[in-house]
Formats: sequence, structure tokens, C-alpha cells
Amino acid sequence: MKIGIDKIGFYTPHMYVETEDLAIARNIEPGKFTIGIGQEKIAVPPITQDAVSLAANAALEILTDEDRDAIDYVIFATESGIDHSKAASIYIHQLLGLNRNTRSIEVKQACYSATAGIQMAKGHIALNPESKALVLGADISRYGLQTSGEVTQGAGAVAIVMSADPKIMTVESPSAYQTEDVMDFWRPLYSDTAFVQGKYSVDKYIGFFQDLFTEYTKKTGIGLSDLEAILFHLPYTKMGLKALKSILEDVNEADKTRLLANFDISKKYNATVGNIYTGSLYLSLLSLLERNTTIEPGERVGLFSYGSGAVGEFFTGILQPNYRKSLFKEQHEQMLTNRTVLTVAEYEAQFNDTLPVGVENIDLPTEKDPATICFAGIKDHMRQYVRKNK
Ligand code: HMG
Repeated sequence: MKIGIDKIGFYTPHMYVETEDLAIARNIEPGKFTIGIGQEKIAVPPITQDAVSLAANAALEILTDEDRDAIDYVIFATESGIDHSKAASIYIHQLLGLNRNTRSIEVKQACYSATAGIQMAKGHIALNPESKALVLGADISRYGLQTSGEVTQGAGAVAIVMSADPKIMTVESPSAYQTEDVMDFWRPLYSDTAFVQGKYSVDKYIGFFQDLFTEYTKKTGIGLSDLEAILFHLPYTKMGLKALKSILEDVNEADKTRLLANFDISKKYNATVGNIYTGSLYLSLLSLLERNTTIEPGERVGLFSYGSGAVGEFFTGILQPNYRKSLFKEQHEQMLTNRTVLTVAEYEAQFNDTLPVGVENIDLPTEKDPATICFAGIKDHMRQYVRKNK
């Protein structure tokens, strides 16, 4: 049975800051951010967007009534969780009006967890071919003002419908995966910004990619010449490029040229949104599928998922007939071009506009946020969401 990605939705907040402006404000040569890191813009979330609302907005554009009936599993991958106990997927279930006979959970393993969700969904559909699963990856990446990770911040979500006979891409088996206990990046319970050993995380990422690609090739006999593109988790776009180049040294020119050209297409959305953690690899897939003009149905792409801490996985997918017809290219391009640019001072003000810890009641200004679904505040310690124009 063919199982895989039937639909992909994407949402990012309506504001961003230019990395060039950020570099100037931080007294850094702009080329370091735009070329050395490879980021053009960083999405900036208003206080009225959190992981739940980002994911709900991403899912809203793709779901039909037929999907709502068939979805019986919601898997929410995030490292920007809003509650230690209740799964973010339950809020989504309500906001999207999903079927009551649904299993709803939240999963965590840094940026890797949406891939875990996709593999769990695949197993579920193999046992229940009529079912569909909704996998969400939503995050707000925060390192702090004037930190070396600041330029790699971002915010956004992807929503993926997994099904049998998918319209976009099958997910092939087997894949190669790996776990190693490393402290390259983490966020203790008391902190709303990440802790990171930057250079170490870069080395670990590249090491995982090389190990997993070798392991995958050993398991399957599939090599570089069988892949039209390799997609990466992109904490910043130069990271994927460094990893890709690390395996291209003794490769023939045709493979090298094709893989580098398609990498260039696959990084476009990420370069203008920033790190969206769990959704990042799938944003890169979306960028490749929505922006390429040459990749034909039947062709195979490789995907490298990495989550600090660390877990990684390399797997492949085959593009399906008419996959282009199932994309939301115009909406995504419009969403990205209609955003508002902030000055660095405005971005800093947004960054510092956070909820006081432990606040019991608060109303938030959802009228300032053009998103359909917003985080509206807190009432008796319970988070409130609003779906406008319902
Ligand atoms: P840094 O120390 O500020 O930067 O940290 P750098 O000195 O390494 O410079 C970066 C690049 O800019 C270098 O190129 C410089 O040469 C170049 P490279 O050697 O890498 O090819 N450069 C210039 N280029 C052009 N013109 C110039 C110029 N000046 C310098 N004028 C670092 C960079 C990424 C470490 C930092 O931003 C950071 O800590 N970021 C957060 C951690 C991160 O993103 N790690 C990635 C791997 S871990 C991961 O992917 C998981 C993660 O998503 C979390 C999760 O799983 O949940 C993060």
C-alpha cells in the first residue's frame, strides 16, 4: 500500500525583520547573516500567535469536510508547548472542528518530532487504510536578543495530511535513524529561550547526516544518483548547504549540479521565515515542490530530519502524479509577500512582549493580528483561542 503526504499547509506570522537591518544594528557585517548564515528575513510572531494558533492557521487552508471526517489521529509536534499536561492537539481538534472519534497527542524531540509524527501516522494508516492523520509541526524559535543564535530565530507551522494513495508524495520504507545523548541545544523548563552550544550543534548535525546517509545507502542500495534532491532540516540555510557539500566531494558533476541546484530552490521559503524547528524540513519540501519547474512525478527525493539532543532520520519519498495540483503555491507566495517589515526596535519590542508568568486573566489584542485563528488571552488560567469569521 502507498502511504504518504496527501496535503501540506503552511502558516507564518504577518511580521518579519530583515537580517541585513539586524546585522547593522548588532554591528556585524551584513554578509555574515545573508551569506555566511544564509538568512534573509526572520518571521516575528505577535503575542497573539503561539504554537497552537500557528498550527491551526496552517491546517485551516487545507482541510475539507471529507478530511475532517476521515482524520482520526492528530499528532502535534512542538518544542514550544503551552502546557505540561494537556496536548496542543486537543485545542486544534476543537478549533478545526474535527471528528470526535479521534486520537490526539503531542510529541516532542526537538526539531525531529514532526518526522516521528509522520512515521507514526504511516504505521496507523497501514493498519487502518481508510483513516487519515493530521501531523502538525509548529514552533517559535527564540534564542534571545543579541545572542549568536538570534539571526537563526523564526516562527511558523506546517500541517500535513497523511493518507493511503496520497496526492503529493509517498513515504518509502525503510529509513535510517539514530539517537545519541548530546547537549548541543536544549531548553530547560524555566527558560523561554533556548540554550545552545552553536559550533558543537553544527558538527553534530553534519555527523548525523553523514552517518545516516551512509546507513540508508547500505540498507537500501539507493545512492545520490537515485535522488532528484535532498531536503534538510534548515535551522539556517547555510547549515543544509554545509551538510550537503560534505558528501559531494567525490561525486560526478551531473549529480553535484542537480543536487546543489535543487537545494537552492528548497531553501527559499526557509531563508525568508527562519528556523521553525519541527516544521523546518517540511517547509523546505514545500519550497522545492512549489518553486521547481523540472521535478517530475515518479522522481525520488531524500529527506534529512535532525532534532538536537539528538535524534536524526534519513528517508525518501516518491512524488505522485499531478502533485503540483495539490499544492497551495499562490496562497503561500501571497502570505510571504504581504507581510509587514519591522524595524529592529519594533522587532525587539515584539520579542519582549511576552505574557507575565502565572497570569490568571488577560485579554490580548487579536484585532491587530490578521490571522484567522489567534491566541486571545487567559481566563482563570485557561488559554483562550478565537477563530474569526466563523
Ligand atoms: P557564529 O559564531 O555567530 O557564526 O554562530 P560563525 O562565526 O560560525 O559564522 C557563520 C558563517 O558566516 C561562517 O561560515 C563565517 O565564515 C561566515 P562557515 O564557516 O559556517 O561556512 N561569515 C561571513 N560570510 C560572508 N560575509 C561575511 C562573513 N562573516 C562571517 N562578512 C551559529 C553561528 C550557527 C553557531 C549560531 O548562529 C547558533 O548558535 N545558532 C543556533 C544553533 C543552530 O542553529 N545550530 C544548527 C545545528 S543544530 C539544529 O539544527 C537543531 C536546532 O534546529 C534545534 C532543534 O533541533 O530543536 C537548532
